[in-house]
Amino acid sequence: MSKYKVSGGKKLSGSIEIGGAKNAALPIIIATLLARGISIIHNCPYLEDVNILIEILKEIGCKIKYENHTLVIDTSDVYSTDLSFGLCEKIRPSILLIGALIANYGIVNITYPGGCEIGPRPIDLHLKGLRALNINIKELHGIINATSSKLNGNEILLDYPSVGATENIMLAACLAEGDTIIRNAAKEPEVIDLQNFLNLMGANISGAGTNYIYIRGTDKLNPAEYSIIPDRVAAGTYMIAAAITGGEIELKNVISEHLQPIIAKLKECGCMITSNGNLFLRAPAKVKALDIIRTLPYPGFPTDLQAPIMALMSIAKGTTIITETVFENRFNHVEELKKMGADIRVDGRIAVVKGVESLCGSNVTAKDLRGGAALVLAGLAAYGETIVDKSEHIDRGYECFDDILRDLGAEIYKI
Ligand code: UD1
Repeated sequence: MSKYKVSGGKKLSGSIEIGGAKNAALPIIIATLLARGISIIHNCPYLEDVNILIEILKEIGCKIKYENHTLVIDTSDVYSTDLSFGLCEKIRPSILLIGALIANYGIVNITYPGGCEIGPRPIDLHLKGLRALNINIKELHGIINATSSKLNGNEILLDYPSVGATENIMLAACLAEGDTIIRNAAKEPEVIDLQNFLNLMGANISGAGTNYIYIRGTDKLNPAEYSIIPDRVAAGTYMIAAAITGGEIELKNVISEHLQPIIAKLKECGCMITSNGNLFLRAPAKVKALDIIRTLPYPGFPTDLQAPIMALMSIAKGTTIITETVFENRFNHVEELKKMGADIRVDGRIAVVKGVESLCGSNVTAKDLRGGAALVLAGLAAYGETIVDKSEHIDRGYECFDDILRDLGAEIYKI
């Protein structure tokens, strides 16, 4: 177990390059299993979740090289679809392995997926969508057994625009017979990235980025070479890090369009943000409260940045009401922020954040990935020293988090 030690009070300033998106990389790596042969994935972040996925793929026969942010995945010798329960339990997107393996191999045995403890995180929408494609799914003692002799396209209306369920159905439907339509699909940029990769493999998918995705099934897909989009959540986190210290930051390798939900909120609280391809943010000494933030599916405010923006609002001028609509239990960071002097009250999915003059350094614990990052940001703004325990949560989603913050002038060390 590791910890971050943060000495607060340094204004961040400098320029950083944003790496590939974890939430795009994981489904795309899984999608390589749809074809036999060598796929090459560039701009792939070095993260624990990616490493776990690589281990899962190696255990079923993939040969994988991972150098300089490029993954070379050879799926020619996949010999099993009995997936490692221990590893699959550790990451949420492991459930997408059903969609990627079922058409070619006819059977997949897997356990329920893991990931951050931010609510019950059911998989009913995944299973309902997959069943609609003629996949027979049995659930027994936490194990999922999926079988299918032939996938058939279908029309599927998602009860909620789940990112993972949309991706799982896209993966399976590529090799189904006939057409599949996903209504109320997730519109996240990572879904578009998956569509682009699958189409490069020879799939016929359109509509990703809207709530209506159309997939014409095909017999066979081929390996492909692709580069992952930049990580909008990491970019947003570093923008908030600069804002919480009253600093400034330039972000290279970003897609500004993907950052509009966070750009709009940061402008509203007083930051100056310009873009000339790169994105530049200059923060006031103290930001204004935002009145209302509601997390929503894209292009609403991202749930993954709810904890970081709460850290920022905890020292803003005024009161902010934050409603978490996406996950049921994503306020694990609140009690920890309160230890640092934040004034936050929670009622169900609503948090009322009264900005305080300043936070003070404290010993806190990261309970999940984004909540952990928020505690580091709070530590950057706090007086004195903050120790963030269980920093391994943070390293699951941010590559070289401490190195990047140090490059920007922060005093942060892993201990
Ligand atoms: C993905 C992201 C995660 C992000 C989330 C929402 C990855 C690896 N992770 O997670 O970082 O926070 O999108 O933007 O891409 N739900 C159900 N039944 C299901 C599936 C989901 O009820 O079968 C619910 C979930 O419990 C949650 C909501 O739908 O309340 C959104 O989940 P979903 O969009 O599926 O998120 P993930 O794909 O797990």
